[in-house]
Amino acid sequence: MARIPEDKIDEVRLSANIVHYISQFVNLKKAGRNFKGLCPFHTEKTPSFVVSPEKQIYHCFGCGKGGNVFSFIMEYEKLPFFEAVQKAADFAGIVLPKEEYKPEKKDYFQKLYRINEIACSHFEENLAKAKNKRWLKYFLDRGLSEETIRAFRLGYAEESNNPLTRLLEKQGEDLQEAAKLGLIQQRDNRKAYFDKFRHRVIFPFFNVQGKIVGFGGRKLREEQQPKYLNSPESPIYYKGKTLYGLHKAIPAIRNKNYVLLVEGYFDLLRLYESGIRNVVASSGTALSDDQAKLMRRYTSAVYIAFDGDEAGIKAALRSAQIVEKFDLDAFIIPLPAGEDPDSFVAENGADEFEKLIGNRMQPLEFEMDRFFANNADAPLQVQEKFINDILDGLAEMSNQIKAAMYIHQLADRFRISESLLVEQLNKVKRSKRRFRKPPPSSTADETTGEARPEAPVRPEKRIVVQSGVYKAEAGVIYLLLNGDREIRHFLLEHIEHQHFENDAFIRIYEHIMHELEEEGAIEADKVISHFQEDAEVTQILSEMMLSDETPSIKYARDCLFQLQKWQLEKRSREISQLLREEQSSPESAMHYTRELSNIRKEINKLEKEHRSHQLL
Ligand code: GTP
Ligand code: MN
Repeated sequence: MARIPEDKIDEVRLSANIVHYISQFVNLKKAGRNFKGLCPFHTEKTPSFVVSPEKQIYHCFGCGKGGNVFSFIMEYEKLPFFEAVQKAADFAGIVLPKEEYKPEKKDYFQKLYRINEIACSHFEENLAKAKNKRWLKYFLDRGLSEETIRAFRLGYAEESNNPLTRLLEKQGEDLQEAAKLGLIQQRDNRKAYFDKFRHRVIFPFFNVQGKIVGFGGRKLREEQQPKYLNSPESPIYYKGKTLYGLHKAIPAIRNKNYVLLVEGYFDLLRLYESGIRNVVASSGTALSDDQAKLMRRYTSAVYIAFDGDEAGIKAALRSAQIVEKFDLDAFIIPLPAGEDPDSFVAENGADEFEKLIGNRMQPLEFEMDRFFANNADAPLQVQEKFINDILDGLAEMSNQIKAAMYIHQLADRFRISESLLVEQLNKVKRSKRRFRKPPPSSTADETTGEARPEAPVRPEKRIVVQSGVYKAEAGVIYLLLNGDREIRHFLLEHIEHQHFENDAFIRIYEHIMHELEEEGAIEADKVISHFQEDAEVTQILSEMMLSDETPSIKYARDCLFQLQKWQLEKRSREISQLLREEQSSPESAMHYTRELSNIRKEINKLEKEHRSHQLL
């Protein structure tokens, strides 16, 4: 990809208002000169994510993420730099030189959506045909109104060999792509394509924008296999990032402030029909991390209503664990054995189902009840295994307070000391940490389910030294960026390159010096822009720029003192080490000892000076 000219990048950066851009994803509220909201990069209950309209940068004081509008897009939408610039340009209405981008990509996705749309209309039309009224009746018999059938665009795929193939061909669509979408298939290397969905009722899958990404088809005759045929994953469909029914459920989820998670399409549709609309379906597979995160965008609680059989309960508990891992509240809605939400509502009505919702249980409570019901006098090993399984789940939980509450309940029910459980939990956590693999980098967009090119992997390198020296270095940078002339002069007179310990700060310091020499001034988001592709540095900078410390000479002196003292102490540590390790000659030992005492004197002098300044 060709490079975009620097001035074009600057133009985009200055035109794409960061507050407006981030507001698409985060609910921002005015707080003084800045805006505040819940950080989209980590889970939190009180806002520590700050966006500055003046400086056009953001920073989260909780997790440390920060930067300018490009950094945000790179981080949030997992895009490489040049695509982030493109995205910001689109947002600001700036046209970038065309040949530098790959417009085919967008066209390619459009093509796939178009093919799915043709297929969907085709299945819908089939259902409306008089000769297929039996299959419309199938839906009606399962309690759905024509209105709901239309709302979810349900359809029917006919028994014959290739009506959809012929239709796509007639419309000049690319059959190879239709095959990738799982709509048609070639029979044993023979050229001719045939339809994949035959004699099935059809459930289209939508992304949150309402575009069709795939289909599910239920069998209509006993001997058909499988019971549900689902589209394969494709460039526009990622199973683990899609939830059936979400596009219709969002307003109701926000309104009720919880989401009801069910397994099947018919569970969802029956509930929708009965007026319960904050429902999504996991489509029978285990809930994925990404699906949990997707729900977290809209609510903080997930009520799980799976089949009342053994498999359903197991799946529900596993899903609850994933939900809780992302700091969402999970509840289990117990269903009678042999029932799913669809059959339950069909037999007992929606009011009875609402009562079940009222009886929801915390997963641990549910699990312990079940354990004691099934194992009245369980031997110790069985109890121990149960407890260890629970601890295993708790170790993944991000909300420590909730984990502590669970520990308390567990200790109570099993009559074990709480501290023993805490100790055991910490052990599990430690072993998990040791074996943790780096998370796979995400390759699909959560909202559209679209595949996207791998963003370059940037290591999540955080500065480790969060001690005095880190704070002092950060303080100096902060003052250089925000202080008045006097403060800046004072620092530039006293500070040197060697005073910095962390590499990132050295780079920032050097760049600031350069800017001051060349431009005589420092512009916050321009500095960030210079370090655009270095997330570590942009995070430090955004923090420095948005911190609300008041710049003062006293603050500058404090930082300087810490830095100088730290360097001396470091030198003294090094020498002591040499003394210990080397079988040094008496002379060199003497030399080292003398130097140590000199350093000690210097530190004393420095401390005395610093105290006297503080008294002024
Ligand atoms: P009905 O029997 O029509 O009420 O459907 P159901 O939703 O009750 O079916 P079931 O409980 O068997 O399955 C729940 C969900 O799991 C379905 O809605 C499908 O999404 C999924 N599922 C079921 N069977 C299959 C299958 O054979 N293959 C795949 N890929 N998914 C299936
Ligand atoms: Mn069912």
